[in-house]
Amino acid sequence: MANYLLKNARVIDGDSDENRDLYISNSKIAQPEGHIDEDVETVECDGHLILPGGIDTHTHMGIPIKGGYSVDDFQSGSHAAMHGGITSIIDFSILNPEDSLSVSVDRRISEASRSICDFGIHCNVTRMSPEILDEIPKLIASGITSFKVFTTYEEASMMLSYNEIEVLAKRIAQHDGILMVHAEDNAIIRSSTEQFDVEDNTGAKYHEMSRPVAAEVVAIRQIGELAKRTGCKTYIVHISSGQGLQEALRYGLMTETCPQYLFLDDNVYRGENENMFVASPPIRSHENSQVLLDAVLSKKIMTIGTDHCPFNLRDKEGVESFRDIPNGMGGVETSFPLLLAHFLENDYSLSLLARLTSENAARIFGLFPQKGSLKNGADADLMIIDPKTPLTGWENQLKSNSDWCAFAGMPAIFPKHVFRRGQWVIRNGELQNRDEGQFLSMEVPREINPTPLP
Ligand code: URP
Ligand code: ZN
Ligand code: ZN
Repeated sequence: MANYLLKNARVIDGDSDENRDLYISNSKIAQPEGHIDEDVETVECDGHLILPGGIDTHTHMGIPIKGGYSVDDFQSGSHAAMHGGITSIIDFSILNPEDSLSVSVDRRISEASRSICDFGIHCNVTRMSPEILDEIPKLIASGITSFKVFTTYEEASMMLSYNEIEVLAKRIAQHDGILMVHAEDNAIIRSSTEQFDVEDNTGAKYHEMSRPVAAEVVAIRQIGELAKRTGCKTYIVHISSGQGLQEALRYGLMTETCPQYLFLDDNVYRGENENMFVASPPIRSHENSQVLLDAVLSKKIMTIGTDHCPFNLRDKEGVESFRDIPNGMGGVETSFPLLLAHFLENDYSLSLLARLTSENAARIFGLFPQKGSLKNGADADLMIIDPKTPLTGWENQLKSNSDWCAFAGMPAIFPKHVFRRGQWVIRNGELQNRDEGQFLSMEVPREINPTPLP
């Protein structure tokens, strides 16, 4: 394996931001002042930025939804991820009716072995039984520490009741794991959806109206109460509204949002390709996206996942009722580049960006300090960025299988080079090494970095 001396960079991670060299030895970050291996390749960085490789906490590669499949599999999706600076992804197992949890997880690990990114797996729990509860300790001991439930999607047989979730949370808490929740109240969604059906209102904008902010708020409140009763560490995925966030914070829950809730607003449901923006929860008003953007800056949001679940135009356009549109959008490739452009444009702290896109995820999902850091001994997962890269014209360089991008036309800065465990994977924006990633065995969560930003 080659070793690299990255010279004259601005090296930024969650708690440092300094101009220096960075040395990669045997796949790890090492000390440049110490011993330099003989076979070292020097890379002149010209003051470019180096940040830790991103960790996407929330992807869905090649999953079945409403009769089709999300169009990025682990190979194309991880290529897209790497192109956008994400070196690790955490995806979800799929529990088929005849599966035990461990069978579902093993199958997903095997599918994910084609990923170029390193990968962890969250365990979807879409059915409850005593046998399922009994699997939790063994799974946690084997590196599967996060268990995802849905308070909706009853029609797809994925929903658990709040009572079932509480029983599960109790068991997870006993073993110090994490409960992850897709929080939208099913009863609220069902009654508003029925109302639109009766009125024969079926376009994409009714998707938004059938899943109101109140559905998110009520579900998060129920989850907050049961988290309080059980003492279970609880993480709310894809928070879409200011009120939903407020509720999560009130109960001390861990908070994730996604780029679609930060950079888009609900006018998308009244414009071109409106079906393509159908994702759950829906994209909210401009006021909501502004509240979430502010919350990102004030550290109320802990992680930015993407909920990467892209489709092609032909999969969604022309579908008449919002109920039949496969729900989901792409994001793994553009998330970091959009955030970087936004942070640079507004002169926000890049150490905060490193925490939001890498370090906090590594801490929550028990991967720190192997991941999420540029300190000595960490995996050499990093990206080199020329901050003068043009902000526009990136759309025709995308690697995702999807033929449509929700963020086209927005300012974004893609990394020039990306390394994963010391391997030079993306060179000048192009894939040059497709070696498979490794399964990431996750540990129980650690505290989010309490130190002030540099
Ligand atoms: O609409 C979405 N978000 N599709 C992916 C599955 C999920 O709910 O996260
Ligand atoms: Zn979800
Ligand atoms: Zn999701």
